[in-house]
Amino acid sequence: MLGLLVACSSEEAARPDAGTVAADARGAQAATSLPEAFDKELAPTLLTDLDPAPDVVEVELEARVADVELTPGQRVSAWTYNGVLPGPLLRAREGDLVRVHFTNRLPEATTIHWHGLEVPADQDGAGHHGTVIEPGASFSYAFRVPHAGTYWYHPHVNSASQVWHGLYGPLVVEARSEPDLGDEVTLVLSDLNSANGQVSPSAEQGDLGRFFGHEGSRLLVNGRELPTLRAHPGSTLRLRVINAAISRFFRFAIDGHTLERVAGDSGFSERPQRVNDWVLAPGERSEFVVTLAGAAGETLHVRTLTYNRFMCGGDCGEAHDLMQIALEAGTGRTAQVPAELASIVPIDIRGAATRTLELGEQTRDGKTYLSLNGRVHGQDTLEFDAAVGATEVWELKNTTEYDHPFHLHGFRFQVLEQGGRAPAIREWTDTLDMVAKTTARIAVRYDDRPGAWMFHCHILDHADLGMMGVLHVAKP
Ligand code: C2O
Ligand code: CU
Repeated sequence: MLGLLVACSSEEAARPDAGTVAADARGAQAATSLPEAFDKELAPTLLTDLDPAPDVVEVELEARVADVELTPGQRVSAWTYNGVLPGPLLRAREGDLVRVHFTNRLPEATTIHWHGLEVPADQDGAGHHGTVIEPGASFSYAFRVPHAGTYWYHPHVNSASQVWHGLYGPLVVEARSEPDLGDEVTLVLSDLNSANGQVSPSAEQGDLGRFFGHEGSRLLVNGRELPTLRAHPGSTLRLRVINAAISRFFRFAIDGHTLERVAGDSGFSERPQRVNDWVLAPGERSEFVVTLAGAAGETLHVRTLTYNRFMCGGDCGEAHDLMQIALEAGTGRTAQVPAELASIVPIDIRGAATRTLELGEQTRDGKTYLSLNGRVHGQDTLEFDAAVGATEVWELKNTTEYDHPFHLHGFRFQVLEQGGRAPAIREWTDTLDMVAKTTARIAVRYDDRPGAWMFHCHILDHADLGMMGVLHVAKP
């Protein structure tokens, strides 16, 4: 009891450096619930909060080339935030003001885009629609984080290349009160190739490689190959999973276990959904709760299963091991997922205008591009105009024979139907995999954040091939 009290008061004192707090609280319970080495092999680095105010999180990020260890003893020179891969975890609470002092020490210009966060347009880091940070320059981002959930950050200049080389990091926004869903682990999934101690291109180069979408043969969980998490049998884990790969889809599964999927891109779903596995397209997030079955001494395999997005570089969506969970003797802490997780009011689409968006191919002068409504970004970019306060229904249609994860900046949306079916469970989304040859309808409301917002395929190679547009939201 005393230990708990100490943990609580240190939690107050240490606020808002939530990361440290989580570690402290965990430390206080270690004797009864967690193996000592629990997530030592794979815990992301935590950002230190420099502002003592309880509702302000102030951090420093520096993009620089640094050596990272993907496998013990084997170093690769990558592009990093703060010298680590993935970039450090930024943790805040719903409603907090986040300030990020960013310095670019890379040899080329960059930005930071806060994927999925509803920030003001001039803080969105959307490449040339915002402030581009030249080599040696600094920029301070400031925004409030309105919604709890699992997010991430990455550059939006030359993004296929910059993300491939290692620029991505997790961002977690906690609710003011979170249900106990077990011991939390954030898993950033990505891939790359390396040769001679450097990040190297994937096999298929040029435009063909871009069509396939570059995939790496080294699969990483929090920047490590096949790391091990250590847990007690019977313990419950809350996994926050982020697909930060530029093209690879992950079909996440834990052998012999069902997962309770509790959250999508932007916070809890209405209700948990029991699944055997779940596909995360590039840019997507999901949260899973799992209670570990098995006996001490057993090892559970966390895998990505076969998923065919049709055109692929690398290995055409084969199954791979991602990490393992080593079960160690002891009693785990078990948590129950509540039957209701969030109340999500459906977006009222009465009177909403409809917009159509076709994700397709365009051939021009013998060269094939990827397009939105026949327009190619960088040539005759598709531009939409919308009014602050408006609600719209977007009818998306993928006329190609391969998947495109559609991402809209700035405004999370609700899926009304996909492939003619309403989703089983309502949730907030910012990235929706448009499966080959399918349609979907989504509803979105533009709140009072005017500006230019990008939308694009999150296979970042496809965005480079033209599948990107701009939504201008203006005061009526
Ligand atoms: Cu995560 Cu415009 O992207
Ligand atoms: Cu695409």
